[in-house]
Amino acid sequence: MTSTLAQPSVAGWTAPKLSVVVPTFNERDNIVPLIDKLETVFAGVPFEVIVVDDNSPDGTAELAKTVAGERPHVRCIHRIGRRGLSSAVIEGMASSAAEFVAVIDADHQHDESILPRMLSEAEGGADIVVGTRYAGEGSSEAGFTKGRQTGSTIATRLSQLLTGKALSDPMSGFFLLRRELFNAVVPGLSREGFKILLDIIVSANRKRGGITIAEVPYSFRPRHAGESKMSPLIAAQFLGLIVSQISRGVLPTSFLLFSLVGASGVFVHLATLTFAFDMLGFNFANSQLVATLVAMTTNFILNNELTYADKRLRGRRFFTGLLSFYLVCSFGTLANVSVASIIYEANLANFFVAGIAGAVMSVVFNYSVTRTFTWRS
Ligand code: GDD
Ligand code: MN
Repeated sequence: MTSTLAQPSVAGWTAPKLSVVVPTFNERDNIVPLIDKLETVFAGVPFEVIVVDDNSPDGTAELAKTVAGERPHVRCIHRIGRRGLSSAVIEGMASSAAEFVAVIDADHQHDESILPRMLSEAEGGADIVVGTRYAGEGSSEAGFTKGRQTGSTIATRLSQLLTGKALSDPMSGFFLLRRELFNAVVPGLSREGFKILLDIIVSANRKRGGITIAEVPYSFRPRHAGESKMSPLIAAQFLGLIVSQISRGVLPTSFLLFSLVGASGVFVHLATLTFAFDMLGFNFANSQLVATLVAMTTNFILNNELTYADKRLRGRRFFTGLLSFYLVCSFGTLANVSVASIIYEANLANFFVAGIAGAVMSVVFNYSVTRTFTWRS
């Protein structure tokens, strides 16, 4: 390690060796007892806690800052106008200056007492150390409902397509690594969804080849207080991440989600058309117009909630965004019809293939334009 200071410590302060990032959203009743537990397991080890809170309505950030005012090894990153577990973890780790960085959930589901072992595995040479529920003495029953357990098992199997069987718990949100490795992979990490570990491991393997992973088993516990933020939307984002990883980033997660939403729009369109034309007796042109508007609107809402959850438009910006989305999609339809007609009329393909080419054209067009126009970064 190089340092610009000859003496990297000030009286009464030692530089932390490890930063423990704690992402929080509405974890007011969990955060202080968690910090207390961390202090107990790391007695004598210079470490710090970085709470990354997305402006929780329950005031978690204020509370964390009160603690930070009393304890030098605690600080809080208070993010405004943003949401997301992965992006919170990335931001917390990026703010660390320690040799090692770790992440632990605020809700006490992860067993903090294995952290010192995780740290010593990393000091002993492991590139990434993962707290696992699915190997050795590990277990997950206590912390999961039946439904969540099934979901977790499916997600684990899917992830193992990417990471191989050697990693027993690729969905773990509890891990530790050298900050230097984090820095090496961070530019390519997805900021969407929950699955940051999987993303780090795949990226690190691609960049460095054969990284060493150590696993430390623990028993997943029930949530201490508050509620889980896992949702069907987050599960869909995860599926998107897997496919995007399998395609080696050629298809970004946001594009896959955008396409998925587009496909759902076809159903919305047909259902509305049937309803307006068949049941309400509108004439065809009007029914088609209404169906188009309804489908564009549901597509916009779904993209706003799912594909661009991290840039979600609210209030006035929701409506200006919706208008710009209508506008872009109208051009997309124009592009769709022109491309399909050119292909068909030049006898390059039959009507079916030409139709698909047109649809792909409009998805790519709508995706690339709304990405910069409607959901500006
Ligand atoms: N800053 C921030 N922003 N934190 C968030 C957000 C967010 O949008 N969403 C969730 N968190 C925090 C929670 O406050 C909690 O500390 C932690 O992230 C995990 O969230 P939970 O809502 O408790 O998720 P979970 O228990 O369903 O999922 C956990 O277990 C999974 C394994 O089954 C997570 O650790 C996942 O990463 C893990 O895969
Ligand atoms: Mn949890």
